[in-house]
Amino acid sequence: MMTVEVTLKLASSMDGKIALSNGDSQWITSSESRSRVHHMRANADAVFVGIGTVMADDPLLTARLVPMPDRQPVRIVADSRLRIDRDSRLLRSISSGRVIVATAVADGMEADSIKATGAEVWDCGDGAGTASVSPARLIAHCRAEGLSKIFLEGGGKLAASFILAGLVDRIEWFRAPLMIGGDGQSAIAALGLQHLSSAPKWQAVSTERIGPDLLETYIRLKSV
Ligand SMILES: NC(=O)c1ccc[n+]([C@@H]2O[C@H](COP(=O)([O-])OP(=O)(O)OC[C@H]3O[C@@H](n4cnc5c(N)ncnc54)[C@H](OP(=O)(O)O)[C@@H]3O)[C@@H](O)[C@H]2O)c1
Repeated sequence: MMTVEVTLKLASSMDGKIALSNGDSQWITSSESRSRVHHMRANADAVFVGIGTVMADDPLLTARLVPMPDRQPVRIVADSRLRIDRDSRLLRSISSGRVIVATAVADGMEADSIKATGAEVWDCGDGAGTASVSPARLIAHCRAEGLSKIFLEGGGKLAASFILAGLVDRIEWFRAPLMIGGDGQSAIAALGLQHLSSAPKWQAVSTERIGPDLLETYIRLKSV
């Protein structure tokens, strides 16, 4: 069976925040770091974000390099209830590459209105009737479509659910030398841990200076 590898990208302040409490997040890291992110996107088969990020930032999620890459990653938004704005930049940029809305309600008029934009709608409910996109179902869909290199760009809630599901293999953490403080939004939302021993664990494999920022790379330590 094809292996799917998920890389989580975080672009945070020194204290691990990805946005102010009012949602302002552009730009925490430097232009040099953002340029590296575009290279990482270009090397991925698919880029994932949560609907919270689409609503806050209206991102394009394309790899914008000079010259432009021959191929763009498939752009996938986890949007359980199909809240995506039909006028969002994602849905208006299908000509730049495939856009997929992964949802728990893949049938009906709302799904049809998204398909009318040219985007695809994937049924990624967990089958148990819960309202959220199942990370495992989303990865299974990617595997079935031959998408093996996944670049997960957040935000904090989607990142937390992939970490809890044990589906993040690698972290590329861009850390800018500024402080946001405890009222900012955490890079990883609540994990609901009761014991430190059950905290997901990582091994640091490299550190690199990128302009004023640090890029720390971690791989997951698999539990035995
Ligand atoms: N600096 C960075 O690296 C970076 C990167 C990305 C985002 N951000 C910032 O992060 C903020 C948005 O983060 P966020 O945490 O609010 O939103 P998010 O993680 O982008 O999206 C969360 C939403 O995704 C949907 N979702 C679907 N399946 C899910 C699942 N299995 N687990 C979790 N969520 C799932 C849920 O809405 P439904 O239930 O309606 O589906 C959930 O509310 C923005 O301020 C943005 O600017 C920063």
